[in-house]
Amino acid sequence: MGLSVEQIDQLFKGLYIVAGILFILSLAGLSKQTTARMGNIAGMIGMVLALAAVIAASVYESWAVHQPGIPAELAATRWSPEITLALIIGALLIGALIGTPVARKVEMTQMPELIAMFHSFVGMAAVLVGFNSFAVPPAGEGSDALTVHLVEVALGVLIGAYTFTGSVIAYLKLSAKMKSAPLTLPGRNVLNLVGFIVFFALMIWFTVAGVDPMTHAPTALGWVLIIAIAVIGFALGFHMVAAIGGGDMPVVVSMLNSYSGWAAAAAGFMLGNNLLIITGSLVGSSGAILSYIMCRAMNRSFISVILGGFGVDTGTVAASDEEQGEHREIDAAGAADMLMNAKSVIITPGYGMAVAKAQYPVAEITSKLRAQGINVRFGVHPVAGRLPGHMNVLLAEANVPYDIVLEMDEINEDFDDTDVVLVIGANDTVNPAALDDPNSPIAGMPVLEVWKAANVIVFKRSMATGYAGVQNPLFFKENTQMLFGDAKQRVEDILQSLSVPA
Ligand code: TAP
Repeated sequence: MGLSVEQIDQLFKGLYIVAGILFILSLAGLSKQTTARMGNIAGMIGMVLALAAVIAASVYESWAVHQPGIPAELAATRWSPEITLALIIGALLIGALIGTPVARKVEMTQMPELIAMFHSFVGMAAVLVGFNSFAVPPAGEGSDALTVHLVEVALGVLIGAYTFTGSVIAYLKLSAKMKSAPLTLPGRNVLNLVGFIVFFALMIWFTVAGVDPMTHAPTALGWVLIIAIAVIGFALGFHMVAAIGGGDMPVVVSMLNSYSGWAAAAAGFMLGNNLLIITGSLVGSSGAILSYIMCRAMNRSFISVILGGFGVDTGTVAASDEEQGEHREIDAAGAADMLMNAKSVIITPGYGMAVAKAQYPVAEITSKLRAQGINVRFGVHPVAGRLPGHMNVLLAEANVPYDIVLEMDEINEDFDDTDVVLVIGANDTVNPAALDDPNSPIAGMPVLEVWKAANVIVFKRSMATGYAGVQNPLFFKENTQMLFGDAKQRVEDILQSLSVPA
């Protein structure tokens, strides 16, 4: 007994809902370290199910319109099932051939750039889906439904184009191929406002004159208007992300994540695909929540960030020490000695730990000291490294127990009672100027207050500045000592000294 067309359609819709539920379970699981693995597995199963259902549905629809009794004009809108399957497999193979080597060789520290590049693909995909669904509108729609469809196309193309150029600019800034300083054109907020007003005017014109009222076929004017909308989206994406710089870049990454979700949801509306709408909305809203959390962590207003805020050049700039005073140095043996005499130790990791891949010897030191009865904990700043959760991922990878990895808010009060703090490759996130100097570009950003501990050891290679390009008065404090060199090398040296019986 075969299934009817309606039943098969319901079956695919059911599979989409199951995939959607798995994505929600995945997000719920990813919110805690202990359940993150389960969350990842749920996400993977959901994605395999979604892909299989989408491929099967596309091939089935092509097969169904080529059955006897279906009008020739309708059949002409679809490839044969064989060609549909070949095209999908071809696209999957091309994607896998490009994506697999890139994903295999990417360093954890280059992840934000890779993610920004992926977001640009989502944006471009939404633009192309928009053009495509304008060229071939869904069959059998009345004029009201067609107007709604044209609004969806205009919005989808705008959001997609915005996400595309915004992500390309973020990629260039994060990979230091473009200056990270904000682009501040005169009257930039007015320019953005004018861009949005022109978009709305074009969208209304597009819905009125985009298609022939009788045949519903796209008109030449419709093509001009939709291309003009795409150009406005590209320009706004370029301008608004170019205006965000330096220390605000973490928010840009999560914001573009959110936009890519809305672009996918817009594509879902254009294609009438519920799964894309669900997934796009999940990505869009979780990205927006993450952006809000990051703004709070940096004490920045979300609105002022997305309209372009402060920022200075990236890259490590050797700043002058003159006004700051003298810094003091310690060697690995001295640091090992200090650690063995401590009762409580806090480690605050940062971007330099990721670059040096020092998390493994850091985990070894931790278990050695804990075995001696020393209380060792980690303090993680919300924007440490270059990715949300960057340090948590590295520490989990090195099997550091979750319960000793604490958030900034959970540990900031405890520095007063701490004997030794190891600042491993962190800089901006432990900079007291954020609290003391109202003129500092990072003024107001909450930081890990490491200087309140009895002793601070800072692991870095030089006196250069961190991501935000500002000098760090911590390095010149009386209770701070610098341990210069590659963080992994220096931590391994300490491990060796700890192994030698006193
Ligand atoms: P940063 O301020 O970036 O400083 C990292 C330090 O690590 C540098 O001063 C560098 O000094 C040192 N370093 C680099 N390689 C090293 C190595 N091999 N061995 C030892 N030290 C090394 O780090 P942070 O405290 O983690 O702050 C993160 C910054 O990135 C913030 O400004 C944040 O706003 C920004 N940001 C964050 C994100 C996210 S989402 N987390 C995204 C984009 C930007 P030397 O050169 O002297 O070694």
